Formats: sequence, C-alpha cells, structure tokens
Amino acid sequence: MVEPAGMADFARTLTAWEARPCENGPYNSSVPKRLPVVKEKSATRSNNSALARFGLGRDEAHWPASAAAGRVTNSSPPPTQTALPCVSTVVVCPISLDRRTPRSLETCRQYVKAGRPQEVSLETRIDEIADRIYRLSTFVPETAPPAGITFNQFLIDADQPLLFHCGQRFLFPSVCAAAARIIDLKRLRWITFSHVESDECGSLNEWLAAAPNATAAHGRIGCNIWLNDTAVRPPRALKNGETVDLGGKRVTRIDTPHVPHCWDAGLIFEETTRTLFSSDLLFQFGDGPALATEDVLAGALVAEEKFRATAITTETPATVRSLAALKPRTIAIMHGSSIAGEVAPVLEGLANYYQEKLRKAVGEPG
Ligand SMILES: [Fe+2]
Ligand SMILES: [Fe+2]
Repeated sequence: MVEPAGMADFARTLTAWEARPCENGPYNSSVPKRLPVVKEKSATRSNNSALARFGLGRDEAHWPASAAAGRVTNSSPPPTQTALPCVSTVVVCPISLDRRTPRSLETCRQYVKAGRPQEVSLETRIDEIADRIYRLSTFVPETAPPAGITFNQFLIDADQPLLFHCGQRFLFPSVCAAAARIIDLKRLRWITFSHVESDECGSLNEWLAAAPNATAAHGRIGCNIWLNDTAVRPPRALKNGETVDLGGKRVTRIDTPHVPHCWDAGLIFEETTRTLFSSDLLFQFGDGPALATEDVLAGALVAEEKFRATAITTETPATVRSLAALKPRTIAIMHGSSIAGEVAPVLEGLANYYQEKLRKAVGEPG
C-alpha cells in the first residue's frame, strides 16, 4: 500500500516526541515509553466514498461477510479503487504503559496484570460527516462507564486545513496518525478548540510539534488566560464573529461564554457546509455511529443530568437558541454521534431544557 502523505514526517516527529510526566488523572496522563506504530487498518461500511482520496477505499465485492456487522479486521484483500463503500477507517496505535498510566484505562492495567506485553491499542476511527469534514473518534470504554465515551476531533480539509479539538495527550499518537492519513501534517494550518480542558486541547503542543506550519487559534479570553502562556508558538486571537477563510471552507468563531462551560468557551461554524462544531453541547455516552440515525437529544439530556457539565447561566438558553438560528445542517459533536439534517430543533429542545432548569432554580411557576 502506498504510504499516505505525511506519514514519514509523522514518524519522524514521533521519534522526536518526548513524553512528559504528569500526575495521574482520568484523561491526561498516558505517557508512552515506546513510540506508537500504526499497525493495522480496518473499515466499516458507509455510503460515502471520500477516503478514496487517500487510498482507503475497498471494493465492496471483496469485503468479508463480517463487514455487514460493522468493523472488519485486516483480513480483507488489498485495497482497490473500483467501488468505495467505506468511509470509516480505524487507525490502531499501541501505546506502552508505565506507572503513570491513566486510571481511566483499566483494561490497560488488566493487560499488565495478566502478564501480557505492556501495550494496549487505541483505535481512532475516521468518518467524513460532511464534505471534507472528518471526524476522528476514539472510544474509551473505561471513561464514564458502563457506557464509555468517545473523544472526537474534527479535521476540516481545505487549502488551509483546520483541526478542531486536540484530544488528551494519551490520545495524541492515535489521533495524529489518523489525521496524517487524511492530510500531510505539514499542511495543517490551524488548530482551534472550544475551551481549555484536557480533551479539548491537552495535546496542543504535541500537535504544534507534529504540524510545524500550524497556528493555534482561540478566542481572546482563552489566549489571555492560557494560550499566550502555554502554547509553544504564539497563538492567533480570534474576535467574536471573526471569519477565517480556509480556501474552500470558511470558519467563523462564535464566543459562547460558559457554553458548554468555561468562560473562554466558543464554537465554530463552517458556512459552506453549514456545520456547527458544538464541542460538549449535545454530548452523549456510548460509541454510537458517526452520524446518528435517531434523535440524540434524549441521550444528551441523560448525559447532562449525569455530569451537569454545562454551566447554566441566565444567558444559556438564548445562547443555544442563537446557535439554532444559524440553521446548521450538521452538528459535529465532541462526545457521541454527530447529527445531520433538520438539526435546529435539537438545539431548540436543548435550549428549552436549560430554560426549564433555570425556571425551577428560581422557583418560577411553570
Ligand atoms: Fe469540556
Ligand atoms: Fe469535551
């Protein structure tokens, strides 16, 4: 198979990557001792064919029967380009474990206890959820058990590609390998995210090392409170409502303080596909499909009740309604399935939920 663009550079970057020690925590402390290697690729069925651009399409006739059940293994024949039934590809990165293994990866511990090699695979799936907008999704069953949770980053492929969300550092090898299958990482121009938390931007500096031409971008508050001090290269501060022309795609930064949480919070909206990148808004548990086949609002409210992750203020319902007013066609959601189609009512439903919470909080009659 032809090596995807950028993989050689990616491997060199990883060779140079020095793992940094940090305290144990649920998400942010995996420190690989050995360098990750992409060792396997598999795919699930989909109606889209976009991965053909980087040689990942497979002839449907050659698919093993197990494909019908979802993910298939590497046993399928060499890729062909004649028919392109798949858009979902899995990048598997083994990471080695040591005493600083994140507590959330309980199965990693079990590997170690069982005397197996101190290595576990993270799998990052790639799906194109809108034209040249790719969801890079890693399911971590040990986080938020029993359902588990997906951590989703989104790559907008344009003349100036943009990554929305970085992932925690323990996800970086796998997510970075997935991104490198889509674009040459030297092309990655922008890295941005909703707010300062480990899953949104914990691996920012690893990304800046892997993508030497990328600039971190964030709202002005986020730059002032964190990014100016932390990023290894100067960030670009985006104004509320500022649009960045990526060449083929146009992205607007929308300040949404405390929505979903943190005062630096903001979202982005890609206007050519009308895709809203909602970060933790509409977050759901579990490992659902890349694009939901049913209404996600019920699942999102379950997660909201469980985690109470949104900082509900008097402005929250209006902020969420303003997002619905954008009339997005796709909402790229950071945890759980994204949605496409008539999605504004989902945001309206979420706004109503927050409104009701506020009403109850202040004791207003219904
Ligand atoms: Fe968050
Ligand atoms: Fe998140």
